[in-house]
Amino acid sequence: MIRIGFRVRAQDAEVAYVRLEPLLAAGFEEVADGEHVELVVYGKDVPDVSFPELVSVSRTLIADGWSTAWHEHLAPVTVGSVTVRPPWLPGPGLVVDPGDTFGLASHPTTQLCLALLQELPPTALADWGCGCGVLAAVGAQLGFTPVAGYELDPAAVETARGNGVEAHVADVTTGVPWARTVVANLTAALIANMGGQPAPTEPATVVMSGVLVAHADVPIATFGPLGFVERERRELEGWAAVVMEAA
Ligand SMILES: C[S@@+](CC[C@H](N)C(=O)[O-])C[C@H]1O[C@@H](n2cnc3c(N)ncnc32)[C@H](O)[C@@H]1O
Repeated sequence: MIRIGFRVRAQDAEVAYVRLEPLLAAGFEEVADGEHVELVVYGKDVPDVSFPELVSVSRTLIADGWSTAWHEHLAPVTVGSVTVRPPWLPGPGLVVDPGDTFGLASHPTTQLCLALLQELPPTALADWGCGCGVLAAVGAQLGFTPVAGYELDPAAVETARGNGVEAHVADVTTGVPWARTVVANLTAALIANMGGQPAPTEPATVVMSGVLVAHADVPIATFGPLGFVERERRELEGWAAVVMEAA
């Protein structure tokens, strides 16, 4: 097995996420290194990937345990009153199995969403791009009900269901399933593609992240025409989350 590291400048990380999304969807680790970020995947073959922001690609032969190698980088994550941990790590907190999905609350954008969810009144909750369902699972723990996750990747949907989340295979760029509260940790490119959809028929609050600070206007540019106004903007390690409300 081969460990493949895609090295980009930290400010290009989001663009790299978008460009590498088909590869990263199967699980990846992120290694911050000063001004650079390395996005690491494991596989049998080195994919033929090239894009302008790519600084270098490293290839390292891995002996055993390759399929769960990235799991060793996971640690329990605490945000406010919420701790999440993978099943193989002991300790307190909500157990969420990441399967082969996007980390486990290790990314700043997931942490921003976790913090903001704790500040909202519990209502019905939709998690757009739920991955393993970590945000939905925490939402349920916080008292949101009913809770549903929507995700393009069927394998991630299975993982989310294994975590007790009602999850559906869905493309949120073609039809957004509204709820009184929505949490959406996507990418700026995906969010920009979500305009032109029907507005919610009841008041709604959307917590939207997955965007760099420099792209924090993208959610409001997309959802403003649907009647949303920005209520709050929060930043963590260069990433942003925006809370928007539609009356
Ligand atoms: C950044 S991850 C967030 C996962 C999880 N919510 C979290 O915060 O850790 C984005 C997720 O959106 C999913 N996704 C990407 N495009 C999508 C689409 N068009 N419709 C639904 N889900 C999508 C990806 O497969 C991925 O699981």
